[in-house]
Order: sequence, then C-alpha cells, then structure tokens
Amino acid sequence: MEILRHVVVLIHITGFALLFGGWAVEAFSRRFQVNQVMNAGLAIAAVAGLALAAPWGISYDLNYAKIAVKLVVLVVIGALMGIGGARARKGSGAVPSGLFWAIGILTLLNAGVAVLWR
Ligand code: HEM
Repeated sequence: MEILRHVVVLIHITGFALLFGGWAVEAFSRRFQVNQVMNAGLAIAAVAGLALAAPWGISYDLNYAKIAVKLVVLVVIGALMGIGGARARKGSGAVPSGLFWAIGILTLLNAGVAVLWR
C-alpha cells in the first residue's frame, strides 16, 4: 500500500509539473494563454490530490487543515483557468495579465503549502 501511495504522490507531482511548466512556457514566451498542458496538469494534480487526501498507506495522521487549504486554492486556480480559457476562446487567446500571474503564483503557493507546512 505504501509503495502505491508513493506512486500516486509521483502522479500528483507530475500534475504540478505540467501545470507550472505549461504556465512557465506561456510566461517566458509572453503569450499569457491558458494552454492544454496546464489544463491536463490541473486535472491530474486534482484527481491524485483527492486520492491522497484519504488516510491509506500511511502510519501517521494527515494534516486536514493543510489539505483543505490546498483544495480551496486548487478550486480558485481552476476557476481562474476556466475564466481565462473562456475569454481566450472569444478573443485573441491571451488572458488578462493579473489573472495569468495569479494562476502561476497560486500554483507555486500550493506547492509551497505542500512542502513547507508540516
Ligand atoms: C495546484 C494544486 C496542487 C499542487 C501544486 C500540489 C503540490 C504538491 C506537492 C509538490 C506535493 C509533494 C510534497 C511532499 O510530498 O512533500 C504534494 C503532496 C500532497 N498533496 Fe498536493 N498539490 C495540489 C493540490 C492538492 C489537492 C487539491 C489535494 C487534496 C485535496 C492535495 C493533497 C496532497 C497530499 C495529501 C499530499 C501529501 C502526500 C503524502 O505525503 O502522502 N494536493 N502536493
């Protein structure tokens, strides 16, 4: 069970890598769009994160306050990406810069919460 949990953590972190990596490519190329890699990364991180939110394959207690914060931040990221994607379909493709930067900062915040809040 423990090894299976580690595999799910790996999948979860891969989702984070795709979300943040997809966002970073947009930031560096100054395109500021919500792309398919970001959407896939968010979905993977969400599904694997929810699986990890249940206490299986571990011998310690989960920090549910931390998990709740991560879930709320994830929902906000998802809402911002939804708004961004809808605007992109209507117009040039770029999302408002405040919204774009918020997606990246909140993604990094969630990784920070995961790693720093013990
Ligand atoms: C964009 C959203 C998210 C990002 C960037 C993210 C990032 C990460 C990272 C980098 C880790 C590894 C940290 C470590 O093991 O020390 C992690 C672990 C974890 N995440 Fe997330 N996460 C996100 C969303 C979620 C959500 C929505 C949940 C649950 C509802 C969640 C639950 C967990 C749990 C329980 C662990 C610990 C796994 C374990 O040690 O057994 N995450 N997350």
